[in-house]
Amino acid sequence: MGFPHISFFYLFSTFLLMKITVGDAATCSDCFTHSRAAYYPNSDEQGTETGACGFGTFGATINGGDVSAASDLYRNGVGCGACYQVRCTNSNLCSDKGVTVVITDNGASDRTDFILSRRAFGRMAQTTDGAASLLAFGVVDIEYRRVSCSYPSKNITIKIDENSNYPHYLAFVIWYQQGKSDITAVQLCETQSFGCKLLDRSYGAVWTTTSPPSGSLSIRMLFSGDDDETWVVPVNDIPQDWTPGNTYDSGVQVNL
Ligand SMILES: *[C@@H]1O[C@H](CO)[C@@H](O)[C@H](O)[C@H]1NC(C)=O
Repeated sequence: MGFPHISFFYLFSTFLLMKITVGDAATCSDCFTHSRAAYYPNSDEQGTETGACGFGTFGATINGGDVSAASDLYRNGVGCGACYQVRCTNSNLCSDKGVTVVITDNGASDRTDFILSRRAFGRMAQTTDGAASLLAFGVVDIEYRRVSCSYPSKNITIKIDENSNYPHYLAFVIWYQQGKSDITAVQLCETQSFGCKLLDRSYGAVWTTTSPPSGSLSIRMLFSGDDDETWVVPVNDIPQDWTPGNTYDSGVQVNL
């Protein structure tokens, strides 16, 4: 006698469960993921100039020094330059908003996804006293989500790596990439002949080529998002007498 009743209940609860699962999946690009965060064991407020992404000083100071090393999210360098909202979960100490950090390094410490700069770690707190308490914990529970990077009044900029050797070896990193996409490929094009070649990601955010074409150069970037890919062609070229250490404004910005 009880059987039909039970099976009806069973079906009904299965249905509810399915609805909830589907609802979650639909919104989850914005969902927070639980994890843990630590901070750099040095006394610097900012990040490190020797971060694995190869950004140099830029990687320590970008975003006011609110930067982080990532472990899995580093993704062999594809994650370099990505922005995450990170907030700690102790409701007495932590603000709702948390902090937005840029990934500039690779590293993990005691099951963490992030090793924040000291400054960024403290900024997750509601108050200065709260920041001191957080720092005393060393490692805290957090939740995070990918967010758009924003660099008001900056164009995407090509920084020629100091280790480049004109004209035989060209290495560079890409600064001020806005939005939420990854740069997954880069083409180097010679602007007279229109000949292009795909470059290798040497490590982190560093793209390199031996024997770059002579003449002015155009650096095209492939932005890959959740379900689309866009090649972005800069307005400005890299002059043919490019110099190691120099930066070149691409004349374009994205919000992909
Ligand atoms: C960005 O590039 C455009 C040209 O495409 C230029 O007019 C503008 O001044 C640049 N912005 C900055 C902040 O350099």
